[in-house]
Amino acid sequence: MSRTYQSGFGNEFASEAISGVLPAGQNSPQKVAHGLYAEQLSGTAFTAPRSDNQRSWLYRIRPAAMHQPFAKVFHPTLQSGPFTEVAASPNQLRWNPFPIPSTPADFIEGLITIAGNGSADSQIGVAIHVYAANRSMQDRFFYNADGELLIVPQQGALSLRTEFGVLDIAPGEIAVVPRGVRFAVDLQADSARGYVCENYGQLLRLPDLGPIGANGLANPRDFLAPIAAYEDREGQFELLAKFAGKLWAAAIDHSPLDVVAWHGNYTPYKYNLASFNAMNSVSFDHADPSIFTVLTSPSGIPGTANMDFVIFPPRWMVAEHTFRPPWFHRNVMSEYMGLVYGEYDAKAEGFLPGGGSLHNCMSGHGPDATTFEAASNAVLQPQKLDKTMAFMFETRLLIHPTRLAMESPQLQKEYLQCWHGLKKHFTG
Ligand SMILES: [Fe+2]
Repeated sequence: MSRTYQSGFGNEFASEAISGVLPAGQNSPQKVAHGLYAEQLSGTAFTAPRSDNQRSWLYRIRPAAMHQPFAKVFHPTLQSGPFTEVAASPNQLRWNPFPIPSTPADFIEGLITIAGNGSADSQIGVAIHVYAANRSMQDRFFYNADGELLIVPQQGALSLRTEFGVLDIAPGEIAVVPRGVRFAVDLQADSARGYVCENYGQLLRLPDLGPIGANGLANPRDFLAPIAAYEDREGQFELLAKFAGKLWAAAIDHSPLDVVAWHGNYTPYKYNLASFNAMNSVSFDHADPSIFTVLTSPSGIPGTANMDFVIFPPRWMVAEHTFRPPWFHRNVMSEYMGLVYGEYDAKAEGFLPGGGSLHNCMSGHGPDATTFEAASNAVLQPQKLDKTMAFMFETRLLIHPTRLAMESPQLQKEYLQCWHGLKKHFTG
C-alpha cells in the first residue's frame, strides 16, 4: 500500500483526518470541533529562538494525561546513560549481527543497547541500540522522554503508527520519532532488525551546506511527515515510557494514537537514503566523510556534533591518482558504523549487514590489508560503488560499550587482525 505523506523538513505542516477539525485563527478555542481536546507538544523550550523552535498542536479524543500511574519495568537489554558498566576502550571493536530472537519480541522487547555516551539527565550524548524483533506491538504503545529515536532498518519493513499518523519504512529508509511522541511499531514481515540512535542532545537537523550552495546532500523536500490518522479504540492497553534511562509502564484504557488533526513543525519524519545527493571529489584525494552527513545534532561547540548521521551511499568514484577507499585515520570524534546492505569499501570481509563497528576517539583504523593492497594497485577508471549502504553515528564524546555488547558472542575477538596483514612497504 502506498501511503500519502507531507513533504518538507521542519515545515509548518497541517493535517486533518476529519475535515474542519483544525481551528482557524487560533490554537485552543473554547470548544474544539468534533468534541476534541487541544494539546500542545513542545520539542524545544517555549523560548527557543524561532529558527529552532519546534512544537505541534494536537487535536485529540482524550488528552495525553489520561492513563494509570507509571511503574518501572525491567528490560534486560535496554540501557541508558551514564554508561559506566565497563571502561571505554581504545580497542577497535566489531560485532556480528545480533540474531532474530527465538522467543516473541516486539520492537521494544527486541532493543539491545550496544554503547553510548552522555545521559538523558544531562541532555547530551547518544545511546546506540540495535533491535531484532519478530512481532508487532499489538496493544502496547511507547514514547521516549529521554531522546529522539533515529531508526535505521536493516532487515524487514516497519510501520510506525504514531500520534501524527503512520510512517512505513523499509531497509534503505530511516525515520525519526521525536522525544515524547507516542507510537507503536508493526512488522511488515516475519522479522525485523536494524539500528537505533537515541539522541539525548539537540534535535537532529539538516547540516548547513556552506560552499556547496542551496542544494545537495539530503534535500528538505525529500523528508516526509505523516498525515493525520487516528485510532478510536478502547480496551486494556499498555503505555510504555522511557524516562530518565528506565522503562516505565502504565495501564491505559484507550489507544493514545487518537489525534484526529494536528498542525506544527514537531513531527515524526522519514527519509529514503536513495534520495541523498552525494558530493565527492572529482579531482583528487578522498574527501572527509562529513561530506555525506544526512542529519546532525549540534553541540554547543561550532562544527562539533553531539551526533552526525553519515551515510556511504552508492556513488561514482572518479578521483585521479587517489587511494579511493577511506584512508587510515584517527579522529577526535568517535565512530560507530553499521551496514544496511552490500559491502563497505574499506573492508573486504567481516563487516556484515546488521553488524557494527566502533572506533573510539584517536583509535587508528582504516582499510584492511586485503582492501589496501587491492586499492593501491587498482587501475583507476571511473568506478561505480554500487549496491551498498553503510552509515555512521559519529559523536564528539567517547563511546562506552555496554557489558552486554562486550560479553556477547557477536563481538569479533579477532577484529584487530584485519590490519595485521598490512605489509611493510618502506623502501628506505
Ligand atoms: Fe573513521
